[in-house]
Amino acid sequence: MSNDGVNAGRRRFLTAATSVVGAAGVVGAAVPFVGSWNPSAKAKAAGAPVKANLNNIEEGQMVVVEWRGKPVYVVRRTAETLANLPKLNDELRDPESVEPQQPEYVKGVARTIPGKEEFLILLGLCTHLGCAPMYRPEVGAADLGGDDWLGGFFCPCHGSKYDLSGRVYKGVPAPTNLEVPPHSYDTDSVITVGVDQEA
Ligand code: FES
Repeated sequence: MSNDGVNAGRRRFLTAATSVVGAAGVVGAAVPFVGSWNPSAKAKAAGAPVKANLNNIEEGQMVVVEWRGKPVYVVRRTAETLANLPKLNDELRDPESVEPQQPEYVKGVARTIPGKEEFLILLGLCTHLGCAPMYRPEVGAADLGGDDWLGGFFCPCHGSKYDLSGRVYKGVPAPTNLEVPPHSYDTDSVITVGVDQEA
């Protein structure tokens, strides 16, 4: 990649990070960046995998880790959230996520490695033009459809909406579900983003 490409990617990421901070202001809770587990800046620029400790994430909370200059959202979902996912299928463009916005080993409406449904792992880049969707987990948020809103992500740039599996709603500018990056579990509580789960 040329330097221009690298710089453009970095600018996009900084924009995304700013949007995430903006989102935190709206919901009144910080969305922490996880930094201590990451490799050096030089290694990250080269695309090194990054690790995240899931033990530090509370139920309903999202943290952001940086991988290849992109934000990766890690959300610890509640049992209620997981139970709600199938109820939304009629309102979503690709509810079973048959289009390949996730690795082969990620399955079902939860869009996770089987057995790991509690933790959602997504690239935090809108599939329309790459803004950072805001984390809006509040069920019934008045500005996002009231009782019909069961929590999800809202892109402030042009209004695309995604559910808490990163599945895109019908009738919004974003064409596809949010991407799931390659990832794997080192242990039950530590993931590596950038390394595929072995079959
Ligand atoms: S970039 Fe998200 S809706 Fe356009």
